[in-house]
Amino acid sequence: MRTLLLNNLILLFTLLCFGCSSGSDDSGNPDPDPDPDPITNPNPNKTTTYTNDVKAILDDQCLQCHTIPLAQGAPFAMRTYAETINAINNREFFLRIKSTGFNVMPPEGRLPQETIDIILDWEADGLIE
Ligand code: HEC
Repeated sequence: MRTLLLNNLILLFTLLCFGCSSGSDDSGNPDPDPDPDPITNPNPNKTTTYTNDVKAILDDQCLQCHTIPLAQGAPFAMRTYAETINAINNREFFLRIKSTGFNVMPPEGRLPQETIDIILDWEADGLIE
């Protein structure tokens, strides 16, 4: 009788544990922050490229620091397509230009939304050179 009770307790315990773990399964919960950096396509009618659209913005807005030699504490250069793609792959490139906080790039202040949209359109179009 004592063994049976013990077995039942073990069974109950196992069931409870199983219930717990499946109940708190992450996949079942709604994600409170589904995608902090969604890709938007501000201009679906235009194919935006680095050479035609984006390089001039970066040259004008970023290269005073993000150049070689690196200036004013900037940690990487963005002079070319390759360097810019490297920044996108390894740095918070899009988060920084979209930021509304203290870490926005350029540091003097957020770019005009139309300018940010050109860069976001380039992203949506596939980061074409
Ligand atoms: C006045 C100088 C200056 C200008 C202009 C500037 N940056 Fe920066 N940038 C910095 C400095 C300094 C840091 C390092 C400190 C930090 O991470 O905030 C930095 C960091 C960054 C980072 C984060 C690097 C990492 O470690 O993830 C990104 C991305 C970036 N900049 C992008 C840009 C872009 C894009 C522009 C132009 C739209 C720009 N920056 C313009 C000075 C500048």
